[in-house]
Amino acid sequence: MDQKRWAAIAAHSLCGVRQKVNNISSSDSEELVIEVQSTGQKISVTRSESIIDALARSGIDIPTSCQSGLCGTCKTRYINGDIEHGDCILSDDEHQEYLTPCISHIRSGTLVLDL
Ligand code: FES
Repeated sequence: MDQKRWAAIAAHSLCGVRQKVNNISSSDSEELVIEVQSTGQKISVTRSESIIDALARSGIDIPTSCQSGLCGTCKTRYINGDIEHGDCILSDDEHQEYLTPCISHIRSGTLVLDL
C-alpha cells in the first residue's frame, strides 16, 4: 500500500475521531486570529478553515505533505495560543511548543506563530 493511501486511512481511523470530539467543544461565534510574530500580521480564520489555508490565503506558505497530521512536515512553533491539536504524531510535551497547522485549529482567541 502506498504512503498516501495509508495516510488517508490512518487519518480517518485515528485522527478523524479525535477531530470530531474536539469540534464538539468549539464555539462558532468567537473571532479567531492568527498573528505572525515577526511581522505582527493578523489573519482572521473561521472555525471551519484550517490554519494552513488561512496562512496561504495571506501569502504565507508552509510546506505540507500528508495534510492529515501524520507526517510532521508542517510542524510549526507557536508562542501562545489555545489550540485543538489534531495530529497523531506530536507528544504532549511537543504540543506545548509546536502544532501541525494542516490539521489543528484555534480553540479560542489569538494564536501567535513563531514565523
Ligand atoms: S502536512 Fe503532514 S502533519 Fe501537516
